[in-house]
Parts: sequence; C-alpha cells; structure tokens
Amino acid sequence: MLSLLTHDLGKKLRFARNFLSRRMVHVNLQILYQCNFRCGICNFWKEEYRNKGQLSAAEADVISNRLNEIGPQIISVGGGEPMLHPELVPIVRALGRHHFPVMITNGSLVTGEVARQLWQAGMLEISVSIDYANPQKHDAQRGKPGAYAHGIHALKILHQTRTHPGQRVNMISVIMDDNHDEVEALIELCRDMGITYLVTLYSHNRGSKPAREPAKDLSRCLLDLKQRHRNFVALRGYLERFPSDTSHTAPGRCHAGRNLCNIDCRGEVSFCIDRLENPAGNILTDKMPDIESRLLAGHRANDCRDCWTSCRGSIESVLYGRQRLLNAWDYYQMTRPVSLRGRF
Ligand SMILES: C[S@@+](CC[C@H](N)C(=O)[O-])C[C@H]1O[C@@H](n2cnc3c(N)ncnc32)[C@H](O)[C@@H]1O
Repeated sequence: MLSLLTHDLGKKLRFARNFLSRRMVHVNLQILYQCNFRCGICNFWKEEYRNKGQLSAAEADVISNRLNEIGPQIISVGGGEPMLHPELVPIVRALGRHHFPVMITNGSLVTGEVARQLWQAGMLEISVSIDYANPQKHDAQRGKPGAYAHGIHALKILHQTRTHPGQRVNMISVIMDDNHDEVEALIELCRDMGITYLVTLYSHNRGSKPAREPAKDLSRCLLDLKQRHRNFVALRGYLERFPSDTSHTAPGRCHAGRNLCNIDCRGEVSFCIDRLENPAGNILTDKMPDIESRLLAGHRANDCRDCWTSCRGSIESVLYGRQRLLNAWDYYQMTRPVSLRGRF
C-alpha cells in the first residue's frame, strides 16, 4: 500500500500543486494522424491530415522536457490511431519520465506483448473506443469489419497485462444521436470484464460532419446510469451539463489554453484537438514561457462553446463546477488503483 502512495511521489505532488492552483495539467498529443479505421464521426484519417507526418521518439523526448518546465501533465497520446506508430513504446517511455501518459485507441492492434511493453514503458491508463453494444452498428460507424470484436479482445488483454495497480483500463463511447440507449449494456459488459466505463459527447467540429442532436434528457439518463453502476466513472459534474437537444453549445466558458492544450505531430501547440488553426507556437522550436503566455492570452479572449467533450468537461467539473467535493470523489474513483488480481 505504501509503495502505491510513494510511487512517482515527486511527480504526483508537483501535479497536485499545479492542479489545485488551476494551471496547465492536461495535454492532448497527436503523434500521427494516420488511421486504420474510417470512422463516420472523425475526419483525422482523411486526405487533408495525411501529409502532417509523425512525431519521432526524439521529438517526444524534447516535448517531455519542455512540458516539464511548466510541470507534470496528463498527456493523452492519440491520433489517428496511436498504435500504428512504430515508435509508440519509446514515445511513451520519454513522456513517462516526467508526466502521466494515457492513451485512447481503437484496440485493433493490441497484443499481449505490446500491451506489456506499453505498461512497462510507463503508460498509466488506456481507453478503448466502443460506441455501440451492437457489434454490427459499431463496425459500421467505425468503417471496419471486426472492430467491435477486436476492441473487446483488446480490453481484456490490456486489463490482464497491467504491471501496477495504478494502471487503469476503460471503455469509452462517443455519445451521438443514436446510441444512448446502448450505454447500459456497455456498462454491464465492462462490469463483467472488471473495468470502468467513460463517455464523451460527439463534437461536430472534428471535421465537417453535420451537427448531430443528442437525445432529449441525456444528462438525466446518464446520471441515472451513474447512480446505478459504480463502474460508470465519468464525473457527475460532466454528465449533468450535457447540452439539451436544442443546443449544441457547451454550458460555460472553455478553459483550453489555461488548463489544457493540444500538441500535434509537428509540435504545433494549440487550444484543443479540434482547433489547430493559429497555434500559440511550436514546442520543438519555441520557448515554453512564450508558448504558455500566448496560450493564456488566447484563453482570455476565447469564447468558444462548440463542444462538450470529456477532455474539457472533466477538468472544468473538478476545477470550476458546482459540488467540487463530489466531483473530486468521482475523479478519485476514475483514477484510483485497481488491484492487479481484482475487478473494479
Ligand atoms: C480521434 S480518436 C483517436 C484514437 C483512436 N483512433 C480511437 O478511435 O479511439 C480519440 C477519441 O476521439 C473520439 N472521437 C472521434 N470523433 C469524435 C467526434 N466527432 N466527437 C467526439 N469524439 C470523437 C474517438 O472515438 C476516440 O475515443
């Protein structure tokens, strides 16, 4: 138990200090945009992103050091499909030296061997995207036959190969106009596998998809599910602020630029994954204090309310929402150690 608390203690204490003083704590990092899926809701796999290239492990090392100047971050390694990257393991190792690497994957390339390597390299959490309990619907949305079966297989392998109780495995679903009534079946499937379940709301900004209306009373439905299923670990402050069916706007001011930001595979730093234009600088070539002050200035002028995805919603709920103690408790449930032999 003591070793659990003291593991990475210096890093955790610096992170906690920055978190409590509402500084930058979360970075989305696109290590490449290539993808082996053709999701209907995402444009990252399309032509316009293809020539952006890939981040190298040496560049990840520079990014890790530069970000450490402002303190340890939760770094969400994504893409495209991050597991297509040939240097994923050394990238995670470089990021893990100073930060807390987490990853979202479609799960199709997970094997026992690579899972073990990722955990040993310092990966803290891996979430696998599954949007429907109905395998045919999931495969159709993801544009890949067998996507559902691979995703479920990946979740089991990832959970079994963890090397430390602090490492967590989640299923994550994008909530759209036609899948909220599949959520309970997915939560129950996760419970049977001993893992936890998360959601994020569809963003109509990730490319050129038309806006998709979420279902009526979505917040109430999701909060009710959370009440009944302890492995549904999304923060209640996030769930209770899902926009109503008549609105696509987020309920409040976005804190991107202050508490979270995005870095693409060329090192360009911007507010968020869906707003790559007008970067605040390039982390591979510019000085970190300059980038930080441009991000902060941009944040002050930013009134974007275009999305309510979990990266912004979770941070805002803990730092600025109502019932902060309850949300802090939910955050603990989302991140607390889960015994290697046990289930959540
Ligand atoms: C861009 S993907 C990259 C990781 C990986 N390829 C995957 O599919 O999980 C990261 C996360 O964004 C989600 N996502 C994709 N399009 C989205 C959209 N339009 N709105 C909200 N989330 C979206 C995916 O389902 C996934 O959970």
